[in-house]
Amino acid sequence: MKEILLNYTVRIYDSASELPETSAHLIQLAREAATRAYAPYSGYQVGAAVLLANGEIITGNNQENSAYPSGLCAERTALFYASAQFPGVPVRQLAISASAEKMDPDTFAKPCGGCRQVISEYEDLAGSPITILLDGPTSVTVVEGVDTLLPFRFKKEELHKP
Ligand code: THU
Repeated sequence: MKEILLNYTVRIYDSASELPETSAHLIQLAREAATRAYAPYSGYQVGAAVLLANGEIITGNNQENSAYPSGLCAERTALFYASAQFPGVPVRQLAISASAEKMDPDTFAKPCGGCRQVISEYEDLAGSPITILLDGPTSVTVVEGVDTLLPFRFKKEELHKP
């Protein structure tokens, strides 16, 4: 038996204004996108903003449905739209913001497992770690690359395509 220690760096900023200008702008856009979410069932509004290598910024938010599983998270709405409009253009940064009526001030937006897997796919396509900005009521948490959020992630290499 051997034990391995996984080592990840997480940067926590006291406010978005401490971030580099581009990242602060993305957080602002994610916050605005959250206000436009269609989330009548959960009341949990999420916004995402994606910065592409060509400078384009795509925003998205969660879209719920009366048939619950038919809805989609903000991150996937934004990433899929970005890839649909700009296929093959690398994703550089992703900001996520959430708001709910009652929210723990110490918490921050956390992408669900399915969205982490989708971020993983676009990170591999991009060929370098995506800067992921997780907005919270009293902080912004930043990780470089999806590995921090999804260790031992499933990659296309696992498929052993002929
Ligand atoms: N949601 C997102 O949009 N992103 C996440 O990362 C977590 C969850 C949405 C899905 C659903 O519309 C609502 O939040 C409650 O789960």
